[in-house]
Amino acid sequence: MLHARDSFVLHRERRLSDNSRAPFRLADLPMPRSILVRRSPIHGNGVFAAKDLPAEKYLIRYRGRLLTHAEADERYSENAETGHTFLFILNDDYVIDGSEHGNAARWINHSCVPNCQPVLVEDGGDPKLDRVMIETLRPITLGEELTYDYGITLEHRHTQRLKKLWQCRCGEPNCSGTLLKPKSRKRSAA
Ligand SMILES: C[S@@+](CC[C@H](N)C(=O)[O-])C[C@H]1O[C@@H](n2cnc3c(N)ncnc32)[C@H](O)[C@@H]1O
Ligand SMILES: [Zn+2]
Repeated sequence: MLHARDSFVLHRERRLSDNSRAPFRLADLPMPRSILVRRSPIHGNGVFAAKDLPAEKYLIRYRGRLLTHAEADERYSENAETGHTFLFILNDDYVIDGSEHGNAARWINHSCVPNCQPVLVEDGGDPKLDRVMIETLRPITLGEELTYDYGITLEHRHTQRLKKLWQCRCGEPNCSGTLLKPKSRKRSAA
């Protein structure tokens, strides 16, 4: 039996990373025991398929403490210089900080050719209740690493030095070489 809040959200539209919209379906409930965390050839820890996964399936919600943008800037202004972040921009009001109260979703690495995408499920009223779900883009086989496109742009100018700090190691033949996106694109993660 679904909690009332979940039933409400399930009937809302979901917003995809390219800003298009799609209806939320009951089949969109996350799959249990579908992923696991282990060391990644891309970076540090990564998340891998624990079974064969179908396309367009919600796997996990990106959880963490909600911070306002001002709070996130204050706490993590040095992030740009480390090339490491657990922040995910939820909406115009909030950022999700996966380093506090986060779940396995915080270990999902970036790829220039991702097999998953983040989906914004809007509450429709309270921006605090919006949520980010990680969804498969295509069928994924047991053992494959899960990735999505972080779509990061920094406040700072994207100098060669910063691009190097944010160097991408996704290993794809057409890897852009950096996790940073050109500034004109709307950012989806931080
Ligand atoms: C949300 S964490 C992902 C988990 C990370 N592997 C870890 O162990 O902390 C995001 C950070 O992981 C690293 N990362 C993720 N994808 C990467 C990639 N394709 N190339 C290089 N580093 C990556 C970057 O430092 C990034 O800021
Ligand atoms: Zn890459």
